[in-house]
Amino acid sequence: MSEPIKVIIVGAGLGGCAAAMAMHYQGFDVQVFEKVHNFGRLGDSLGLGENALRLLQRWGLHDRLIEIGNKSEMMQIRRWKDGKILAQQPLMDMAGYIGHRGDYHEEFLRRVGELGIGIKMGSNVVSYDENAPSLTLSTGEVHKADIIIAADGIKSTARELVLGFEDKPKSSGYACFRAYFKGAYLKDDPLCREFVEKECVNIWIGNDVHLVQNTLRDGDEFNWILTHKDTEDIKESWFQPGDMDAVREIISDCDPRIAAAVKKTKECLDWKICYRDPIPSWVSKSHKIALLGDSCHPHLPTSAQGASQATESAAVLALCLKLAGKDNIPLATRVYEKLRFERVRQSQRNGEDVRDRWHNALKNLDDDVEIDPEDVKIRNRWLYPFDAEADTMRRWQEVSALVTKELQTGEITPLFAGTSATYT
Ligand SMILES: Cc1cc2nc3c(=O)[nH]c(=O)nc-3n(C[C@H](O)[C@H](O)[C@H](O)COP(=O)(O)OP(=O)(O)OC[C@H]3O[C@@H](n4cnc5c(N)ncnc54)[C@H](O)[C@@H]3O)c2cc1C
Ligand SMILES: *[C@@H]1O[C@H](CO)[C@@H](O)[C@H](O)[C@H]1NC(C)=O
Repeated sequence: MSEPIKVIIVGAGLGGCAAAMAMHYQGFDVQVFEKVHNFGRLGDSLGLGENALRLLQRWGLHDRLIEIGNKSEMMQIRRWKDGKILAQQPLMDMAGYIGHRGDYHEEFLRRVGELGIGIKMGSNVVSYDENAPSLTLSTGEVHKADIIIAADGIKSTARELVLGFEDKPKSSGYACFRAYFKGAYLKDDPLCREFVEKECVNIWIGNDVHLVQNTLRDGDEFNWILTHKDTEDIKESWFQPGDMDAVREIISDCDPRIAAAVKKTKECLDWKICYRDPIPSWVSKSHKIALLGDSCHPHLPTSAQGASQATESAAVLALCLKLAGKDNIPLATRVYEKLRFERVRQSQRNGEDVRDRWHNALKNLDDDVEIDPEDVKIRNRWLYPFDAEADTMRRWQEVSALVTKELQTGEITPLFAGTSATYT
């Protein structure tokens, strides 16, 4: 028996953890490096679709996630000004299983630990040698592997250091105020009590604005996310404090029931929503460092697929490595990006589409005009039956033959034509 493939993963977010599990299950030797020393319970509500849960089940991590996320059955899409229900659909058809990002992350980390995969916390990766391939930590330590996977998030340094893509976030024109807190004190308010009695999800849509409410942990925890036009050009960060006076102003003409809950919120975050142009390659020129997750395919929050698509990418890359073998890492990474790109684009666009439909559905409409519920429903259902591993098996022969030729000539076709990203 030859030595197993040695894999290094940078970043232990949901994408990095998913990659660690996928690689472990293919029999590889896996080591993860994570910059922060400790993970807090960061973020708020996050959706996991059945497309991801199918894979996570194969890695022994299904039931605990279901326990977190399978609590409310239906979600309502409501009219901004009075909460009239415009459409209702099963949560499973839209965002999938909704739970707290931190609760899901804890389970991902626990599973990685159970599998005996090492995560070196407090390890800041500061440079890469794409040919070795190896990475260097801020301490000067160098680590070498057969393949390095950069799951280092939306502000990925690997994307810049290895692929040479300048990080150019473009404002989407929108920002979200968001808050997450223990909602017990809202239970005394007759106006908003109904939204904190048990887990539930509601969305209010208006002109160029929408508000998502998630009640989690059996009604103990309350979350709202208010997407609005970003006129301030705020900075992109998960930790930027928001101005509750601005929030109160925006919701002053919103359904008084949800407005009562939002108004009582003590503090919130202001989270700029940026687009990033798709990049024409997810893999270094040496073909030995590959990006995964938000570092190469970030999603808008309205897509509810960021973590799920990262999970799919993890499964596909692991299987490609298995099929190609230790001596053919370049074949694996180049097939991986080709298999993933189109599906990820469609999933990203889905998030843009639903936001635009919500923000325009009620424009220039009189109150008594009924809208077609289908016009405002989330259309994610088609994403769920997909089995990323079965798809890889099905397309491996065709795509690997193509990539083999490209590697022989040295001409790798970019993932899409007419790129506006800088590829140096
Ligand atoms: C703080 C935070 C809150 C979020 N909240 C939500 C939410 O509420 N709802 C939602 O739908 N999505 C949220 N997301 C996004 C969601 O988690 C991702 O879309 C999805 O999980 C895929 O992420 P990822 O693993 O690719 O990247 P990330 O989750 O961003 O993980 C990247 C990891 O890489 C580490 N890292 C970065 N640079 C280095 C380096 N140089 N060396 C070593 N390690 C490095 C980071 O510390 C981080 O742990 C949040 C992301 C973050 C970072
Ligand atoms: C989720 O809960 C519903 C009942 O509310 C149940 O019918 C369904 O089987 C559950 N899903 C899973 C995957 O356990």
